Amino acid sequence: MRMVRSRGGCAMPALGLGTWKMGEDRNHRKAEVEALQLGVDLGMTLIDTAELYASGGAEEVVGEAIRGRREGLFIVSKVHQSGSTYDGTIRAAEASLRRMGTDRMDLYLLHNRNGPYPLEDTLKAFDRLKRDGKILHYGLSNFDAPDMEKAETMPHGPGITANQLRYSLARRGLDNGLLDWHAKHDIAVMGYTPLEEGFLRPKPGLAQVASRHGVSPMCIALAWTLRHPSVVSIPKATNPGHVRDNARAIEIKLTGEDLAALDGDYPKPPPGTFDVWGA
Ligand SMILES: NC(=O)c1ccc[n+]([C@@H]2O[C@H](COP(=O)([O-])OP(=O)(O)OC[C@H]3O[C@@H](n4cnc5c(N)ncnc54)[C@H](OP(=O)(O)O)[C@@H]3O)[C@@H](O)[C@H]2O)c1
Repeated sequence: MRMVRSRGGCAMPALGLGTWKMGEDRNHRKAEVEALQLGVDLGMTLIDTAELYASGGAEEVVGEAIRGRREGLFIVSKVHQSGSTYDGTIRAAEASLRRMGTDRMDLYLLHNRNGPYPLEDTLKAFDRLKRDGKILHYGLSNFDAPDMEKAETMPHGPGITANQLRYSLARRGLDNGLLDWHAKHDIAVMGYTPLEEGFLRPKPGLAQVASRHGVSPMCIALAWTLRHPSVVSIPKATNPGHVRDNARAIEIKLTGEDLAALDGDYPKPPPGTFDVWGA
């Protein structure tokens, strides 16, 4: 698996596994655990989760999936902005670690920028957690360029090594300068919802590129997000066929002709369009 490197010595697999909507129904638990394990076996050794997902249920699924096989995995979770005070962040991290049955997270993120608490306090807690070895790296999620610029000026701002933002063929707002901003600052971009929650509609050019490479349109859609060296993509899949399909994206090398066809189907949005976070 290709690694995406960012400041502070962070190196994460370019293609990982999402977990939103996992842990919501006990009847699906076995399939979800097996999907994550299959993904890991196929090389997608990064797992993205959050305390928010199924109120901790997704982290429990992750815990079950990684039991006895924690080494070599890159585990990411998030503190929700509704509790991201200094003490709240420490408590949330410890609860996430307990649910996942691990002593450390590789990356810990603040879920969203619109919380009621000062970012300085969350970053201070991240720094404490890092010095205590409970997290190895920290970052943010759903922060745009002005937010990031402001975060950079804070005492623990230069420790931010990743920002998670929405990125797919159908939502290309990141291409309006924000990807370049992150590359310039050596901060990794984790692109979420890369398949538009499974609703990405394959247009003719995408279908043609997929048939040229002998893979599915969804696989090409993932390969497209990975064309930029500082982007990590984290599709969620419970269906084992989808997991296998997605794993192939890392091997796909898109040509200039492919990229032109995809640009034709899914044009870069007009300057100023900024669709980089979900609803
Ligand atoms: N930071 C944030 O605010 C934020 C927000 C949203 C998401 N995220 C993270 O990003 C991850 C991915 O985003 P997402 O879950 O919103 O959506 P997504 O990955 O774009 O799409 C997931 C959906 O696509 C389907 N799918 C997966 N692979 C497929 C394939 N090869 N062919 C056809 N369908 C396929 C899945 O079906 P099956 O499950 O049935 O296989 C599932 O219904 C999340 O799980 C979460 O970890 C972060």
